[in-house]
Amino acid sequence: MKPNAKDEYHTPVMSDEVVWLIHPRPGGVYIDCTLGSGGHALGLLEFAGAGAQVIGIDRDQDAISAAKERLNIFRDTVTFVHGNFSDLQDIVKNLGILKADGILFDLGVSSHQLDEAERGFSYMEDGPLDMRMGQEAGPSAKDLINTLSAEEIASILKTYGEERWADRIAEFIVKRRDKAPVTTTGELADIVKAAIPAKARRSGPHPARRTFQALRIAVNQELDNLHAGLDQAIRILRSGGRLVVISYHSLEDRIVKTTFLKMSSPKGQDSLRILTKKPIVPCMEEIIANPRSRSAKLRAAEKF
Ligand SMILES: C[S@@+](CC[C@H](N)C(=O)[O-])C[C@H]1O[C@@H](n2cnc3c(N)ncnc32)[C@H](O)[C@@H]1O
Repeated sequence: MKPNAKDEYHTPVMSDEVVWLIHPRPGGVYIDCTLGSGGHALGLLEFAGAGAQVIGIDRDQDAISAAKERLNIFRDTVTFVHGNFSDLQDIVKNLGILKADGILFDLGVSSHQLDEAERGFSYMEDGPLDMRMGQEAGPSAKDLINTLSAEEIASILKTYGEERWADRIAEFIVKRRDKAPVTTTGELADIVKAAIPAKARRSGPHPARRTFQALRIAVNQELDNLHAGLDQAIRILRSGGRLVVISYHSLEDRIVKTTFLKMSSPKGQDSLRILTKKPIVPCMEEIIANPRSRSAKLRAAEKF
């Protein structure tokens, strides 16, 4: 059964902290760069009361549809944009907006994307090996796995998955695809399991977790988009405006941390004041209620 857009589509992570840090007010302009099903946007709109304007961006059309349903009562104040936050300045300019009072990035994939087997993100369920967040054209995980050289595959697994068995996994993939193309998530998960020695598989997370994370990042160019999105967001913020970023793995968090640090040293036109010396993490209660929140790290900054 499909999840209900209003509740089970995606539970927003650290939503009280997000709302408190952005502190939306009537008349303000807020951009949710990763709208998902609109859980965080709903929190911002409810807190701000009438008159706040929210721009909600997502590259996934399914997310936009779910958010439209969830945010129906605020439809007059929300602008839905099916697009990539790496184009943030163009998106905002096309809407005639000059500055924003608060900008949110809640990175990664939604529960909906992970749970829908046919989107191809999950190593737990069998589905087509796709992993594209947006349904736009561009190489899927299947294209990468079946066309790149063993060295290129290993490099993706090392760089984006920090996978110590990357060379062996790549070798097993190439051997297997010489017989028949690898087309499903189940096939890929089995190849990874076979490539990692049993002893190394016994402890820790699912053996295919790192491989799937790495491929997802490569397919969606997540780190390049994050660099581009953050830079543009900082420029768009008005003085006193706040930027909040929730990341889910160390590669993303490193980019957020270094961008914030870089922008907080010279007190130029686009400089930031860091509000979170250390990242905020979910409390135990939230992790128990929503285990997918366990790796979340929230960093926030204010524009000078
Ligand atoms: C963790 S979910 C956000 C959930 C949302 N905060 C909520 O409360 O429902 C991340 C969303 O960001 C979207 N996304 C990821 N990278 C994106 C990008 N570069 N541009 C636009 N949307 C992106 C994904 O499609 C996904 O729907």
